[in-house]
Amino acid sequence: MDISIIGSGYVGLVTGACFAEVGHNVICVDNDHRKVDALQKGKIPIYEPGLEEVVHRTVAAHRLRFTNSIEDGVDHSQIVFIAVPTPPQLDGSVDLTYIERVAREIAGVLKEYRVIVDKSTVPVKTGEKVAETIRRYNKAGVDFDVVSNPEFLREGCAVSDLMNPDRIVVGSNSDRALALMKKLYEPFMAPIMVTDINSAELIKHAANSFLALKISYINAISAICEASGADVEKVADGIGADKRIGRSFLNTGLGYGGSCFPKDIAAFIAISEHLGTPFTLLKEVQNINRAQRERFVKKIRDTLWVLRDKRICVWGLTFKPDTDDVRSSVAIDLVNDLLREGAIVQAYDPKGMQKVVELKLCKGALLMNSAIEATENAEALVIATEWSEFQDADFEQVSNRMHTPIIFDGRNLLDPATLKELGFRYYAIGRSSGA
Ligand code: UDX
Repeated sequence: MDISIIGSGYVGLVTGACFAEVGHNVICVDNDHRKVDALQKGKIPIYEPGLEEVVHRTVAAHRLRFTNSIEDGVDHSQIVFIAVPTPPQLDGSVDLTYIERVAREIAGVLKEYRVIVDKSTVPVKTGEKVAETIRRYNKAGVDFDVVSNPEFLREGCAVSDLMNPDRIVVGSNSDRALALMKKLYEPFMAPIMVTDINSAELIKHAANSFLALKISYINAISAICEASGADVEKVADGIGADKRIGRSFLNTGLGYGGSCFPKDIAAFIAISEHLGTPFTLLKEVQNINRAQRERFVKKIRDTLWVLRDKRICVWGLTFKPDTDDVRSSVAIDLVNDLLREGAIVQAYDPKGMQKVVELKLCKGALLMNSAIEATENAEALVIATEWSEFQDADFEQVSNRMHTPIIFDGRNLLDPATLKELGFRYYAIGRSSGA
């Protein structure tokens, strides 16, 4: 099938590449000329495992190409995806400017029937607005359908999530559009759940909120574990073994971050308030998330006392491992907390350093060339992101390099017993077996 994707960010690019991988002809559209130029030269603007190979393979097979022109995309495809950003506004609600603009632009070039699919995460009832806008701005009165098809991929394993989805949600009330969507997704061999447009839109916000709630739930338990001498890892295993609960997303840490959860939870709160049915539980999810990092910083302060002029090594800057994405990263917030208190921060991340520099985050932190170099003369080592490289580090060497062998493990990545044997003072989250 012929499809186009408007917006070549994380979601748009990975979705386009994966559609091309299963045999469709895909045009990825973006209004950023530099990005399109780079993609045309084979340069991938983000780090995502497996993405580069898929893009190169499908471009070589002439199934994937890049353009700046929405008209080019709309003219040469049966299905047009909208995958543009939906950034948060100050009050937490979603800024739909880009969606609205793309809807108008599509309307301006629409010459024959197309299925317009909303892939971006949007508030419930956005599909209705998109349809209304296209109808209003398409002077020729061309027939079209709007479909909601939310994306559930996680950064760091986006290609694999997209190629092997748990389910595909398609919100539409048109048989014609549904038939095309089913054909499009046939190669993925996943269950397709058909709903109305509003329900499909709601599923995305409800799913992300539930996952964030699970994380905040275990983080709240981790505080109780620390206060009572229990071990949060054992508690998570114990409750997670119940099939009704499940073990995934019960990993305690510094809290959730990234470009989705913080934004989507704030948006869902704003949407629920707008609809007159405030979802107050989610405010507590946010509070716990914030408190989790604050509690961790307090732990560092309680142990090291005054942080001013203390040399602290931080491993990890990305919001999770296997990505170069540092947007809304708790690790970055943590580094800034330490800098604010006057600490000298020596930071390292396997993939996120370039983006930290580009976005001018953690100003004042010393960005080091390797994990081991970052530990030089440090009075404490903080693990902020659970990269496997950190798990596999040579801790004897780390200990020799450090001024004092103290570790604060914000992701419960390491084995407390091994570190204790090596002479470290080790503090984790919700695990009293540490120090
Ligand atoms: C999330 C959703 O998982 C995905 O379905 C949606 O499409 C986009 O938002 P993503 O933000 O890429 O994906 O990553 P995810 O793996 O969900 O992690 C989000 C944050 O939660 C990270 O900061 C991560 O460190 C944190 N997290 C995740 C935990 O603290 N504990 C966990 O158990 C899982």
